[in-house]
Amino acid sequence: MVDVRPLDGRRATDSEIDEYHELWSAVCRVDYPELPVPTRAASAAGLLTSQLHLGERLLWLARLDGRLVGSASINLPADDNDRIAIARIIVHPDQRRQGIATEILRVVALTLRERGRTHIEGWDVTEGGTGAGWTRALGFRVVNASVLQILEFAESDPSRWDAAVPAGYRLVRWVDAAPDDLVESYAKALNAMADAPLGESGLTESAWSVERVRREEAVYRDNGITRWTIVAVTGSGEVAGLTTVQLRPLNPERLVQAETAVLAAHRGHGLGMALKGAMLRWVRADTGGLKQVWTGTGAANTHMIDVNHRLGYRTVRRFSAVSRELAGL
Ligand SMILES: CC(C)(COP(=O)(O)OP(=O)(O)OC[C@H]1O[C@@H](n2cnc3c(N)ncnc32)[C@H](O)[C@@H]1OP(=O)(O)O)[C@@H](O)C(=O)NCCC(=O)NCCS
Repeated sequence: MVDVRPLDGRRATDSEIDEYHELWSAVCRVDYPELPVPTRAASAAGLLTSQLHLGERLLWLARLDGRLVGSASINLPADDNDRIAIARIIVHPDQRRQGIATEILRVVALTLRERGRTHIEGWDVTEGGTGAGWTRALGFRVVNASVLQILEFAESDPSRWDAAVPAGYRLVRWVDAAPDDLVESYAKALNAMADAPLGESGLTESAWSVERVRREEAVYRDNGITRWTIVAVTGSGEVAGLTTVQLRPLNPERLVQAETAVLAAHRGHGLGMALKGAMLRWVRADTGGLKQVWTGTGAANTHMIDVNHRLGYRTVRRFSAVSRELAGL
């Protein structure tokens, strides 16, 4: 009988990280062959500090005769999204079709319902893959499609990042905390993220405030994650566009793209290219050991996908978001 127990991710021991690395590497070989083989650091970063922007993180490990055979990583978004839980459940390829994932989900669902959540979504289900079959069998429906794009620095042509800053704007950059004189305008600009297509996902982009910006900065700081931001500022000092990346010390080879947004009134001038190009030049010059940047984008967001291609990103996979009620699981 599979034994499913919660784990405080921040207290994971070295041997738990080793076991998780073995599990995650085996899953990647079978289910995500298009992705780079995970290093132990990448697995540790995934186990300990994944998806912090999606809210509080809960973890469960599933063991069969003492051996780690599966896991569930759950995020509990805050603000206006406190009825939804976002899940990633994996099972070792050698141990599939014995009901392990279904049992993990049953245990997880008990806690999620106690925590007041009514719906569960999975955001990383490969189209036509094992997760698609499993979630369909369990009554999930597909609510969105996304793509993962990766830029490999070794294969990239840096001249693609030289897009000029359009007239009337200047770029301002910072590491970690937004400067006091821009934070209010920056929070306002982040609301443009609500224009990013989320399909029929139950998740909504909740309103940004200075309080939310400062709260999220504190979460990243407490988890040792460095965030680099570049904003485009108008002549009157308003933030018109922004881009942020995350550097996780646990996985220094891989930069993760976070928010990119240009306010509707400022679109069509090339600010997206200018911001993201400037970011690539900055991180390339100021960080050692960086090999890749990863970014996930809604499949319907063709403009962002195209900007990324022009910067040198390759689209490596397509994946779905799926959703169902927690009741009945
Ligand atoms: C998806 C995954 C977690 C399923 O784990 P599992 O322990 O094999 O799943 P279960 O044994 O609980 O499957 C229960 C039912 O789901 C369906 N199912 C499971 N895997 C399936 C597949 N590959 N194709 C079609 N249906 C599938 C079947 O109806 C199965 O019942 P059956 O074996 O009696 O036919 C596992 O394949 C995995 O780790 N995949 C990669 C990661 C992933 O995609 N996770 C889901 C995203 S959250």
